[in-house]
Amino acid sequence: MMIDRQSRLFRANEVIFREGDVGDCAYLIEKGSVLIFLNKDGAEYPLKVLGKGEVFGEMSLIDNSLRSASCRTLDQTQLIVVTREQLLDRIQTADPVVRLLMRALLSRLRFQNDNIRGKSIANENLAHEEDKKAALNQIEQENRIANALQNREFIPWYQPIYDLGSRRIVGCEALMRWISADGIAAAPSTFIDIMENSSLIVDAGHAMLDQCMAHLTKIHKIVPADFFVSINISGRQFAQPNFLEELEKLRSAYQLPAHQIKLEVTERVMMEGPQALGVLQNCRSLGYHLAIDDFGTGFSSLQYLASMPLHDLKIDRSFVSKMHEQEKSLSIVRSLIHMAQLLGMNIIAEGIETNEQWKSLQSLGVTMGQGYLFSKPIAFVEFEKLLSTAKLVKAS
Ligand code: CMP
Ligand code: CA
Ligand code: CA
Repeated sequence: MMIDRQSRLFRANEVIFREGDVGDCAYLIEKGSVLIFLNKDGAEYPLKVLGKGEVFGEMSLIDNSLRSASCRTLDQTQLIVVTREQLLDRIQTADPVVRLLMRALLSRLRFQNDNIRGKSIANENLAHEEDKKAALNQIEQENRIANALQNREFIPWYQPIYDLGSRRIVGCEALMRWISADGIAAAPSTFIDIMENSSLIVDAGHAMLDQCMAHLTKIHKIVPADFFVSINISGRQFAQPNFLEELEKLRSAYQLPAHQIKLEVTERVMMEGPQALGVLQNCRSLGYHLAIDDFGTGFSSLQYLASMPLHDLKIDRSFVSKMHEQEKSLSIVRSLIHMAQLLGMNIIAEGIETNEQWKSLQSLGVTMGQGYLFSKPIAFVEFEKLLSTAKLVKAS
C-alpha cells in the first residue's frame, strides 16, 4: 500500500485505526490531540490522550502484530505519517540490547491492554530469538571484559618502530592484549569493538596509559631521549571532558616528558565534536606528539587532516600489504606520502612484511615503519630485552 508521505489533516472525532487492524504506519502529532482507547464491553475504555510532538501506532510495526488499541482524534488534528521503513530502519541498526528492552516493554503494554479488555487480540508475539541471543551475548561479553579489566588482564604489548634508513628502533606502538588467567593472549580484534561500543574503552584506555607510562619509566635510561611510545586513543576516550587532565595526572606522577608520548588518534575524534580540535591543540602545546592512525581506511576528510595539529601520519597496513600487488594501493600510498609531506608531517608505515615493501617505502620518502619484517608485537619483558641487546639503539 502506498502511504501518503505528507502530513494529513483530520477533523475532530475521526477514527484513525481500530484495535485488531493491520498496522501500516505510525504517526507523529503535529497539531491537535488524539485518544488511545480500548473497546471493553461495548464501551470506550480510555488509555491515554496524546498531543503535539507525541508518537503513536508504532507498536504494531515494531512487534509485527495487530493494532493493540484504537485511536480517534479529539479535535482537528494534523498528523505526520512515519512509514514502516522509516521506523524499522532505525530499529534494525539499534543496539540488540536496546531492541530487546523495547520488545519487553511492548509485550508488557500488550499484556496490560489484553487484561483490561479481558481477551487477547494480538497474534502471539513472535519470539525474537535472534535478538535475544544477540543481546544476551553482548551483555555476557561486556561483563567478561569488565571483570577482566578489574583483574588487570589487559596489558600493553609493544611493536618496535624503526627508522627505515638506519634500522634503528626509534619508538614503539603499544597494542592492547588480553592475557587471561590461562596465560593466553587474545588480539584486540576479539574485544576492542565491544569495548569501543560501550564505555569500557574509557577505563581500558586509562589502564593502558598508566601501564605504558610505567613501562616507559623502566626503559627510560636505556633509550635515546627522543624515543617514543605511541598509544592508541579511542574517540570516546578522547571525548571525555577530563581526558587531558587525567593524562597529565599520570604523566606528572611518572615524571615523564610529554614528547616521548605519542597519541594515536583516528579521525573519529573529530567527529566527537568541535571541542576535539581544542583538546588536540592543548595536547600539542603541552608537548605530546600526535599521530593520525588508519587514515584513508574509513571516512577520511582532508579538511580534518589539514585542521588537526598532527606530527605524524600512519599509513595503514592494508595499503602497505597490497602496494606491490595492486597499482591502486601503490597510488594511494604515494599520494598519502605526498600529502603528508606537503602538510609537514612525518610518515610511519604499518604492516611492513617484506624487504621489497621496506625498500620501496624508504625510497618514496617514508622515514619510519613497523611490521613483521622487523618485529611482531611482543610482551614488555621481551621488548626490554630487545632494547638492551639491539645495537640499533644508541643511548644518548
Ligand atoms: P499500535 O499497536 O500500532 O496501535 C495502537 C497504538 O496505541 C499503539 O501502537 C501505541 O502507539 C498506542 N498504545 C497502545 N497501548 C497503549 C497504552 N496502554 N497507553 C498508551 N498508548 C498505547
Ligand atoms: Ca594504531
Ligand atoms: Ca593502524
